[in-house]
Amino acid sequence: MTSDWWADAAVYQIYPRSFADSGDDGLGDLRGVTSRVPYLSSLGIDAVWLSPFYPSALADGGYDVDDYRDVDPRLGTLDDFDEMVTALHSAGIRVIVDLVPNHTSDRHAWFTEALAAPKGSPARDRYVFRDGTGPDGASPPSDWQSIFGGSAWAQAPDGQWYLHMFAPEQPDLNWDNPEVRADFLTTLRFWADRGVDGFRIDVAHGLTKDLSEPLTPTAELPDLADADGSHPLWDRDEVHDIYAEWRRVFDEYDPPRMAVAEACVAPSRRHRYVGVDGLHQAFNFDLLEAAWDAEEFRARIDRQVAETESAGASATWVLSNHDVVRHATRYGLPGAEDNPRETAAAWLLSDGTEPPLDRDLGLRRARAATLLTLALPGSVYLYQGEELGLHEVGDLPTELIHDPEFRRSGGTRKGRDGCRVPIPWTSDGPSFGFSRGTPHLPQPEWFADYSVAAEDADPHSTLEIYRRALALRSKLRGRGFAWHDETRPQALHFVRPEGWDCITNFGSRPVPLPEGTILFASAPIDGRLLPPDTTVWFLSGETPT
Ligand code: NOJ
Repeated sequence: MTSDWWADAAVYQIYPRSFADSGDDGLGDLRGVTSRVPYLSSLGIDAVWLSPFYPSALADGGYDVDDYRDVDPRLGTLDDFDEMVTALHSAGIRVIVDLVPNHTSDRHAWFTEALAAPKGSPARDRYVFRDGTGPDGASPPSDWQSIFGGSAWAQAPDGQWYLHMFAPEQPDLNWDNPEVRADFLTTLRFWADRGVDGFRIDVAHGLTKDLSEPLTPTAELPDLADADGSHPLWDRDEVHDIYAEWRRVFDEYDPPRMAVAEACVAPSRRHRYVGVDGLHQAFNFDLLEAAWDAEEFRARIDRQVAETESAGASATWVLSNHDVVRHATRYGLPGAEDNPRETAAAWLLSDGTEPPLDRDLGLRRARAATLLTLALPGSVYLYQGEELGLHEVGDLPTELIHDPEFRRSGGTRKGRDGCRVPIPWTSDGPSFGFSRGTPHLPQPEWFADYSVAAEDADPHSTLEIYRRALALRSKLRGRGFAWHDETRPQALHFVRPEGWDCITNFGSRPVPLPEGTILFASAPIDGRLLPPDTTVWFLSGETPT
């Protein structure tokens, strides 16, 4: 086992409640994951990352954790967890679990204790409690807004306020409190001892805060985009002391455990989360926002490659996850060449009607983009369902929406449920093979065409493209990377000095394919022309200058 396996791994994200249900409650579970190990194995991935499966009231899809060292009884038991890890390891698949250290849930024993304890008590010091402002302290301590919308402060029954940068059910922890720090070390060891190979660190940029009085009003907060560590709430330099301590814990294990940061920070500061005294990787979300445009992709790729090279780290590539509109949909909307994220948000608000989605175009581009990222040096994080070419479900009835973002934004943001609908395993049956019961989010009819069963049988399906691409990638991977100088408009061509080339046509006209033997393509190739919205891997035998 190499200890830096993660540096070029293909990691598959499982959102457990929507992956596979071994029972009939319509909620995916750990036994469901275990039952699908042969499928995961057939994909050719190196690891799975499991979004939270801990006890939770699901105020934020499980990112509101009641107990960090247990399994939600609806999802199974610790024994089920152990069985799942054993089965995955036997298949050569490593396991990354999600750690949520910025906030607990409001049902966590510490928060219950804090509410019952008096002001200024040690129990309250584990969180961020403050007196309110205005007459009788009836107004929040500051005008800070939560990420999901609305005030970032909620009032406790005795009138004090507590900070929640996300939903009110997610009170922020006070990371200046030694007990909080010690408890997370216990949690890391708890899962590392159970054999997990790594951790994904939720909101890694948020743990430490400068809450000295007076609290800075929102209008005077620095812009995170050009942050220099002076923002009181995000990306503070002190947070790295925590990760240095965690790193010592990871390194106690053989092989050492790894960690990947979800750090939503200025790209120039991302590398700070990574290093021998810190975490191993930081997610690079730049492509989630990239327009379908060669120059924009190139600029974002350049930045990530340069950053990770200078930090001695490995790049990470993400096109979809449980927080964003699926990339097949982003690229199939008319705004894709301009601002796909905004267009996708508007499309969701219109229940998936405006602007009209071109499913085929989106899927063709999504396959091309996936092949491009799979050819880049570094690791890729794939999100369940993207290997089926799934689109976002845009028309979930609002009364069924779980995401707190929807209500807290006053309905101005539809939220993230559309990418969290349980995935289809079969083309028929009450929940397309996901569960014997009613799925916790309804699946649309069109899921039938994207099911594992439908695609398994089709050599041209997205699923087969992923399988073959991942198999090929595992033979080709290496660390070298260089752009190929050429003049084809709207085409990106790079060379992996280990001996393969990748070219993507972002334009609307075919371009001539460079000389070389085609290894693999995201769409059928006729002759020596590269069609629009297509990626080809080939062997040119050339060394870039
Ligand atoms: C990031 C997670 O990916 C997201 O799903 C969650 O809502 C927030 N962190 C808060 O935990």
